[in-house]
Amino acid sequence: MPYKIKNIELKTNNFKENFHYALKHFDYLLVPVTSKKNQDKKEIYETKILKELHHQFSILDLFKKEDFFGEKESNFIYYRLDVSNIIFFGVEEFDTKSNIELSFSKSLLNALKLIKKKHIKNIGIEIDSYVEIYQKPNLKSLLINLLISFQDFTYHSLEAKEIQKEIENLWILTQQDLPNEILNFGKFILDARSSTMDLVNIPANLKTTLTLVEKAKNLQNIGLQVSVVDDVEWIRKYMPCFYIVAKGSLLSDPPKWIKVQYVPKTEIKHKIALIGKSIIFDTGGYQVKPDSYMNTMKADMTGGATVLSIIEQVKKMNLPYLKISAYCAVTPNKIDSEAMLPDSIVESTSGKKIEIRHTDAEGRLTLIDALAMAEKDENDIFIVVATLTGSAARAVGPRIALMSTQKSIRDRFEKDCEEVSELVQSLEVDEEDYQDIKSKLDGADITNTGSEKYRGAQTAAAFIFSGLKDLKKPVLHLDIAGGDMNKDEKATGISVKGIMNFLWNLSKL
Ligand code: BES
Ligand code: ZN
Ligand code: ZN
Repeated sequence: MPYKIKNIELKTNNFKENFHYALKHFDYLLVPVTSKKNQDKKEIYETKILKELHHQFSILDLFKKEDFFGEKESNFIYYRLDVSNIIFFGVEEFDTKSNIELSFSKSLLNALKLIKKKHIKNIGIEIDSYVEIYQKPNLKSLLINLLISFQDFTYHSLEAKEIQKEIENLWILTQQDLPNEILNFGKFILDARSSTMDLVNIPANLKTTLTLVEKAKNLQNIGLQVSVVDDVEWIRKYMPCFYIVAKGSLLSDPPKWIKVQYVPKTEIKHKIALIGKSIIFDTGGYQVKPDSYMNTMKADMTGGATVLSIIEQVKKMNLPYLKISAYCAVTPNKIDSEAMLPDSIVESTSGKKIEIRHTDAEGRLTLIDALAMAEKDENDIFIVVATLTGSAARAVGPRIALMSTQKSIRDRFEKDCEEVSELVQSLEVDEEDYQDIKSKLDGADITNTGSEKYRGAQTAAAFIFSGLKDLKKPVLHLDIAGGDMNKDEKATGISVKGIMNFLWNLSKL
């Protein structure tokens, strides 16, 4: 598990004592600060903690001397011999309108980068200053995103030559009413994130369908039910649309159909299907991706990595009332002499006949069958996670493009994402999108690309929804193509915290 924080503790009692202990014995103590405008002049916002530290160390005078006002993403390190160094990190001004919890975690990560090369055993962070500044921050989101910043700080991919950063103890100091239950939930999110990111970050030449199969099979060890179909004839017969994508790699890396099931110990109130796009590498097929468009396509299995990593933590959390099944139709989209040709017509699990207009729109071909299969299993809520379209990336950038067959469940999902500052924007799938994917060929019902230039994310969603027998079933479709990798081309773990919070809240209803 390549993020290394051995012990994370929430210190909500004896604030003063703990604070002073950390001040004496830790390597670093982090304190958020911010600036305020006083008649065009920048001033530091004097929180209680700052006043106290000023009392001890004349800290405000030092700030003045160095022109430090606590502006966003500016930092001030107060070095001290043999006792804790104090890192004051500037956060957004308090009258900001942006997502303050996310902006807090960004500023935190930015400050931590200053000590990337330092040896750190014990580190503490005080968040009550922040609460004092913003009055009512969302504490759940604040805590979860704080943990994520520390995780991103210590995370390195499996291929890293050496462990880059380790922390023994992280203390989160606050007098707020923050239950340990939320800290523990946050830790499960971190584990799901690192597992997802590890799988996605594996280099293209080392990644095969077996990468996800092994992940799934390992889940047997923690008591999940796992089935893996590697009988290619079975796949050809029952999931023909998935199969046609796999045709270009039957010899080099044949397809797998993975299903992992979690059954709660309690009664079952909801049956949830998590369906992850699991294209091991997307070359585009015969309509091959030009030039650098093919780069990052090792991440086209992010959906699969995400759902397998989430169901693992669901089991570890023992989430009540939800039966959860994860489905992955795993294959690369590659080319040999057997690979699918554009203008083919193929059956699908749903019975609809599919015209293939573009070999690079392969994700929806695998997902339409996967969703139809999940519907046969009598699930009642469906969540599709997919790096599906460049169109979604252009529309919403590094956020989740959320689409659904039902407005009410889409609203609920949005709210659950907001609660943990998972960024989503909803797109409407309209009748015109269903019209746009109607095939003009005599032998086919729908086609895998619309004929309009626009609304590519919505036509992809309409295509996948068309695999359902009952179009009114609640499907949440998350197109994560814009945010699955960051600018350094590392996995981000997008959608993990949002989906986990949705499941968590659903289990409490
Ligand atoms: N895997 C890609 C989508 C993608 C693009 C993910 C960029 C991450 C970053 C998908 O299979 C694809 O190629 N989609 C095409 C569809 C088109 C041919 C209709 C696209 O969006 O361009
Ligand atoms: Zn593609
Ligand atoms: Zn793809």
